[in-house]
Amino acid sequence: MGTGAFTVAIDGPAAAGKGSIARALAAHFGFAHLDTGLLYRAVGARGGDPLVAARGLTEADLERGDLRSMAAGQAASRVAAIPEVRAALTEFQRNFARREGGAVLDGRDIGTVICPDAEVKLFVTASREVRAHRRWLEVGGTEAEVLAAVVERDSRDAERAVAPLKAAADAVVLDTSEMTVEQAVAQAIRVVEGRLIS
Ligand code: DC
Repeated sequence: MGTGAFTVAIDGPAAAGKGSIARALAAHFGFAHLDTGLLYRAVGARGGDPLVAARGLTEADLERGDLRSMAAGQAASRVAAIPEVRAALTEFQRNFARREGGAVLDGRDIGTVICPDAEVKLFVTASREVRAHRRWLEVGGTEAEVLAAVVERDSRDAERAVAPLKAAADAVVLDTSEMTVEQAVAQAIRVVEGRLIS
């Protein structure tokens, strides 16, 4: 595609397939990709005062090896409920979204708060059981425990006062419960193509 900004905003609950879809879209269209959950995971993992961590976040913080664990996900979900932490991370995300050449951001509030004018908004979801099963395949342990953690994190993310997880009114909803990754990616590519040519 030519130069200019083009933002794809992808939101949805934990383990719905946002990350796989975001990475595949970025590779297909040559867009940059930002996994915004990593920002909150890095803030949680730094420990100490979360606001100090959010304001001082560096590239190196995002490269820590322990950010994908269940514990890091829970810590991220807790610090993500603090309005000042979210505010400290907003400008970085908006600048990333409007970079030349296109960007895909995935998270919880991209289409609603960070990029309400995104050219494409996708809300990627799947049943709790399917999401817990997928996460369990990645992290191991017992499936019931993983399900409980996923449910706990979803309700905290959806019920918080500031920037709760919800689909933007103009988002295209993609329920991946019965889809393979390839099918979900193919659908997402079609949605983006539809906006690129219109
Ligand atoms: O996408 P993830 O599982 O890596 O996100 C970890 C936590 O970070 C998630 O439970 C809620 C929070 N988060 C958020 O509040 N807003 C975002 N844009 C991305 C993540």
